[in-house]
Amino acid sequence: MKSIVISIGGSVILSEEADVSFLRKLASLLKKISKQYKIFIIVGGGKIARDYIKLGRELDFDEKTLDSIGIDITRANAAIFANIINESNKKIPCSTDEAEAMDDPIVVMGGTTPGHSTDMVGAELAEKVGADLFIIATNVDGIYDKDPNKYDDAEQLEKVKIDDLIKNYGTSWESAGKNMVIDGPALEIMKKAKLLTYVVNGKRLDQLENAITGRSFDGTKILV
Ligand code: UTP
Repeated sequence: MKSIVISIGGSVILSEEADVSFLRKLASLLKKISKQYKIFIIVGGGKIARDYIKLGRELDFDEKTLDSIGIDITRANAAIFANIINESNKKIPCSTDEAEAMDDPIVVMGGTTPGHSTDMVGAELAEKVGADLFIIATNVDGIYDKDPNKYDDAEQLEKVKIDDLIKNYGTSWESAGKNMVIDGPALEIMKKAKLLTYVVNGKRLDQLENAITGRSFDGTKILV
């Protein structure tokens, strides 16, 4: 059976307001797809993680402690998501090794160790299980040529070379709670493992399904 790893941003799972109907629809899409693919989901921390990290930073906590707080939030989000999917594990794995060993049709996890985001966990797991596809489901429609929050004329890229992303963003981890489309350590693994990676808006379930099932989708393909 083919396998897919999906890194879902915390902001997709929980925005300002809890969206129960969206979560149920996302869960049922994954259930449908799990008949054809083994699915691994890594859930991010979103705004709650960033708010907690901001508070800890104001209280002068060190970076490792801030990362650990972020990890706990990603794992709490993962627990919420796992519990609405009947076909998934209920105990959240602490490492990609543990996740790989689970035989549930849909395996859900959060963060693992300090020094990177859940995108890197997704890339590491995709490499480990030899995934056919790695999807980054975020809260924007794809990767842009410049920050769309700052520039009105930012254009969404249909394709981008991994080397260009590495040139622009590097491969190191800067600080806890840094909100980037893909973090540096994840880019490094994607390049090394030659992972087929798509970036898509996780809120747009039709586009997410298109990306997973190999149909054309509105998003960005990363060329490795
Ligand atoms: P996220 O993966 O949510 O990071 O982890 P993000 O890119 O800031 O947020 P999204 O993608 O919009 O949801 C939240 C924070 O938790 C720590 C990092 O500090 C990260 O910024 N973290 C997470 C780790 O240190 N290790 C992990 O494996 C996961």
